[in-house]
Amino acid sequence: MTEPVPYAARRKQLQALMQQGIAIIPSAPEVVRNGDAHYDYRHDSYLYYLTGFSEPEAVLVVIAGEMPQSILFCRDKNSEREIWDGFRYGPQTAQEQFGLDAAYSIATLDEKLVELMSNQPALFYPLGAAPNWDARIIKLREDVKAKARTGVRAPSELRDVRELLNELRLFKDTHEQSFMRRASTISCEAHRRAMRFTRPGQFEYEVEAELLHEFCRHGARHAAYTSIVAGGANACTLHYVGNDARLNNGDLLLIDAGCEFAGYAADITRTYPVNGKFSAAQRDVYELVLASQAAAIDAAQPGRLWNAPHEAALRVLAQGFIDLKLCQGSLEGVLESESYKQFYMHRTGHWLGMDVHDVGDYKVVDQWRPLQAGMVLTVEPGCYIRPSDKVPKALWNIGIRIEDDVLITAKGNEVLTQAAPKTVSEIEEVMRHE
Ligand code: GLY
Ligand code: MN
Ligand code: MN
Repeated sequence: MTEPVPYAARRKQLQALMQQGIAIIPSAPEVVRNGDAHYDYRHDSYLYYLTGFSEPEAVLVVIAGEMPQSILFCRDKNSEREIWDGFRYGPQTAQEQFGLDAAYSIATLDEKLVELMSNQPALFYPLGAAPNWDARIIKLREDVKAKARTGVRAPSELRDVRELLNELRLFKDTHEQSFMRRASTISCEAHRRAMRFTRPGQFEYEVEAELLHEFCRHGARHAAYTSIVAGGANACTLHYVGNDARLNNGDLLLIDAGCEFAGYAADITRTYPVNGKFSAAQRDVYELVLASQAAAIDAAQPGRLWNAPHEAALRVLAQGFIDLKLCQGSLEGVLESESYKQFYMHRTGHWLGMDVHDVGDYKVVDQWRPLQAGMVLTVEPGCYIRPSDKVPKALWNIGIRIEDDVLITAKGNEVLTQAAPKTVSEIEEVMRHE
């Protein structure tokens, strides 16, 4: 059941940031896959954040100033369509259920927007997000301008509403934190299930099926992003999503998978041996990545800068690469020359929330921003070793990433995804087959 409380509070926060003017926030489009089949519908994160309303063909209008208002435009009730496609709220019920000041049929949008935009000094809108909406909104603003002779003024200031909303979304309220904890718990269970299931000779997609089964059976109908299930050398392709190769005895399996629960994402990577037992070389690299992740999580503290976890992970990895004879020279030399990038070429994390790569600035006025309570980030160092004459052969095709989701708290941090087995001994224990 939708809880109206946080949504109304979020709309108030938006109104406070706008000061005055009108914000127009459209829903996401339905996308045809082929023929009459659609891709699964995913609501627009901004509209959902402000309403909890997840039907397509909707627009939220928020007015700030002396007469603040929140108005939803949505599909009408339609007994014929509802027989085919299911329930629709319709404006009247939507207004009541979602605690809005007014709701109207989406069919009246253009006409009503001309009225609502009239005499508003500023228009806040996701500029450039969707060309069809850009054209429509600009045309409606011209329609308002055409009424100039009647004394009506069109908004003269145009701003991207996402700049305001991104800053709000960066700080997860308790309502959001509870959904993120649930998404994390389900995803941890899915990784545990995958570990228990994995055997040499299976196909990657068989393991993927276990993940999806576990997501779905807990009400998380969708993965937050396409799962990466990458055996052996496939783990060295960062965005591998083929998931159709056979798993070989002696190889590692890298799984990057998380569910979306109630609109919130989890993003977890675990890497483990297909046969349940790390080889000495695999273990050396694994322990290195794990130590770099521990250093990074340690650096994810309130008041530390965004980049601190990345820098902490890099120092540990670079020294490890020297020890493993992957890189040559001193630690400072490897960091300075960035020769570590042959084996670790991505950053150590990103914001996480409704979107897997969530919104929010990483820098403020050219400085990495300090971490603050309520922010959620991933911590995901890795090491990817492709075959090369310059690399010890025992390390070829080892691809390892370890990724957790971390909530910054007032006093430190909470690792939301702690329950997914991670140490060598935990993993080997879970994989020990009766
Ligand atoms: N799963 C996407 C990422 O780790 O960034
Ligand atoms: Mn990931
Ligand atoms: Mn990630």
